[in-house]
Amino acid sequence: MCGIIGYTGSQSAAPILLDGLGKMEYRGYDSAGIAVLHEGEIEVEKAQGRLVNLLERTDNGKKPVGFTGIGHTRWATHGAPNDINSHPHVSGDGRFAIVHNGIIENYAQIKEELAAKGHVFVSETDTEVVAHLIEANYSGDFKAAVMKAVSRLEGAYALGIVCADFPGTVFAVRQAAPLIIGLGIGENFFASDVTALVSYTKNVIYLDDGEFAEVRPDGFTIYDSIGRPLEKPVSRVAWSIEAAEKGGYEHFMLKEIMEQPAAVKEAIAPRVKGGEIKLDDFELSGEDLRDINKIVITACGSAYHAGCCGRYAIEKLTRIPVEVKLASELRYEDPIIDEHTLMIIVSQSGETADTKAALEEGKRRGATTLALVNVVGSSIARLADHVLYEWAGPEIAVATTKGFTTQLALLYLFALYAAGKLKRIDDFEYARLLGEICSLPKRIQNAIDMNSAAAERLAEKYHGSTSMYFIGRNTDYAVALEGALKMKEISYVHAEAYAAGELKHGTIALIEEGTPVIAVCCNEDLLEKTASNILEVKARGAEVLALSFRENRDIIAHADDVLFIPRTETFFSEAVAIVPLQLLAYYVARDNGCDIDKPRNLAKSVTVE
Ligand code: AGP
Repeated sequence: MCGIIGYTGSQSAAPILLDGLGKMEYRGYDSAGIAVLHEGEIEVEKAQGRLVNLLERTDNGKKPVGFTGIGHTRWATHGAPNDINSHPHVSGDGRFAIVHNGIIENYAQIKEELAAKGHVFVSETDTEVVAHLIEANYSGDFKAAVMKAVSRLEGAYALGIVCADFPGTVFAVRQAAPLIIGLGIGENFFASDVTALVSYTKNVIYLDDGEFAEVRPDGFTIYDSIGRPLEKPVSRVAWSIEAAEKGGYEHFMLKEIMEQPAAVKEAIAPRVKGGEIKLDDFELSGEDLRDINKIVITACGSAYHAGCCGRYAIEKLTRIPVEVKLASELRYEDPIIDEHTLMIIVSQSGETADTKAALEEGKRRGATTLALVNVVGSSIARLADHVLYEWAGPEIAVATTKGFTTQLALLYLFALYAAGKLKRIDDFEYARLLGEICSLPKRIQNAIDMNSAAAERLAEKYHGSTSMYFIGRNTDYAVALEGALKMKEISYVHAEAYAAGELKHGTIALIEEGTPVIAVCCNEDLLEKTASNILEVKARGAEVLALSFRENRDIIAHADDVLFIPRTETFFSEAVAIVPLQLLAYYVARDNGCDIDKPRNLAKSVTVE
C-alpha cells in the first residue's frame, strides 16, 4: 500500500516529508520520492528501493530546499519498481507535481487522449497521467484545474498535488483511499495515515470520499465534490508517537505481541459497565436479533481467521447460524444476503480492497453491517453502518498480532451481548462468561510469560524446517489456521493448517520421519480426539509439538515438545492459544534471518484487489 504525505509551513519541508515517509515504511513499498517548491520551481528527488537511498539522494533532507512539498512511498501496481516510475510525478510543463495512493482505472483512455494532444509521458504509471490531466485543465486556477481533472477519474485515489505558481499551497483529494489533514501552528499537513503526522500534531481531520482539501501554512479549506466549502470536525489522535515506535524491542512484531494484554483490555474495558456489555453506539434489541436469520463474517487473511475463531462463540451462545467467508470469494458467489443478514466485516487496517468490496456487496443486498476495525477513520469504518474500534493502537508489523486478538475480543463481546439480548443464557452464566472475557488480558499475559523462553528454545529445533502442519479441532482448528499463517508469512516456512480429523483423508501421506506437526489441544471437549490424531502422526514419524494446558497429562505423554497456556473457557480460548504460536513463528523467523516486520512480497494493507 502506497503512502503519501504533504507539508506546508515555515520549516524546511524535506526533512519532515522524509521523516513521515519513514513512519509509513511499514505499509510496504519498493521506492520513494519527494517534491519541494522552491522559487517558482518544483524540485524532485526519488529513488528505487529502501528509504535510505532517498536519504542519500537528498543529503539527509538538506535538499531540495523549500517550505512546501509532497512525498510518497510506492508499492508498485502500474509499472516496475524503478526511479522513473516512482512518485512524485510531474506534468509535461513541470508546473505540477503529484503523489498518489490507489489505482486510476481509466488512466489508459485518458493517457491516449492526452498523448493525441501532444503530451509526452516518461513513466508506465497511472499517476503521471493525472499530472498531465491537471496541466491540460489549468488556466491559472489551481483548484479549478484539480477539480476538473479529478472529475474525469475513475477508481481509488488519495492525491497530493503542488503547483509551482502557488507557493505555500498543497491540494489533497480523497476517493476510496485514506487521507488525513494534520493541523499544526503555522504549518499544516496531509498524509495517508496518522503515524506519519502524530509527532507533529494530534489534531487531524479525516477526509471523506469526494472531498478536496486546500492546505496552506495559515489554514485550510475543505471542499465537497462540486467545490462548496465544508465544515469538518477536528479529531484528536488518542495515542503518542512512542506507540508507533519500537520502544526498545528488536522488532515491532515482538513489541506488538507483548502489547496484547493491554490492547485486549482496551478493546474490552470501555464496553463493560456495571456487569453489562455496551457495544458503543451499536444497539441491537432481542427483537432485532430475532429478525436476523444469519450472520456473515467476511474478511481476509488473519482477519478471516479471527472470524473463524469468533464464529464458535457466536453460534454457541446465540444459536444464530454464522457463515465465515473470504471477502475475495464472497463478492463473486452471488451470496445469500438480505435484510435479515447481519454482516460483520473484520479489518485491522480498514482499507483492504477485497474486504471493502464485500462490505459494499453486503450493503447492496440490504444487510446490516458492523465493522470491527483498528484504524480510526479508515474507509471500511466510514462505510459500514456501525463500527467497533479495536483500540489496539498503531500496528506497524505487517504480520498482525494485537490486531488479531483484539478482533477476537470484540467478537466474543458481541457473542455474549447478543446471547444476553436474546435471553439464551441466564444471568449467572452471563456473569460467568463476562468474567471469562474480562480475564483474557491476564490469561494472554500468562501465555506470554509461560512461552517466551520456551518458544525461543523450540525455534532452535524447528527453524530451517521445510514444512510444518498445524492441526486442531473446532476452536483449535481456527487457531491452527492463524498459527500456520503467522509461520508462513514471517519465517517463509511452508505451513499448512488442517482439521485434525481430516488429516487421515489424504494429507497424512505427507507425514514422514521428522515432519513437524504442531497440535493445538486447547478445546476441553476434544482433547482425547486430538490426542488420537497425535498418535496417528507419531506412528508415521512426525515430530509433535503440542499446545495445551499443563493439567493435560495425556497430551504431554505423547508429544515430543509441549507449550502450555492457562485453562480458558473453550470458545474464548483462541485469543490465548494463538500467543505461543505467534512467539514460535517470531523466533523461527528470527533464526531464519527473515525481515520480520516487513516480510518479502507483503504489505500491511492490501488496497488492491
Ligand atoms: C496478517 O498477518 C496478514 N498480514 C494479512 O493476512 C492481513 O490479516 C490481511 O491482509 C487483512 O488485513 P486487514 O485486517 O487490514 O483487512
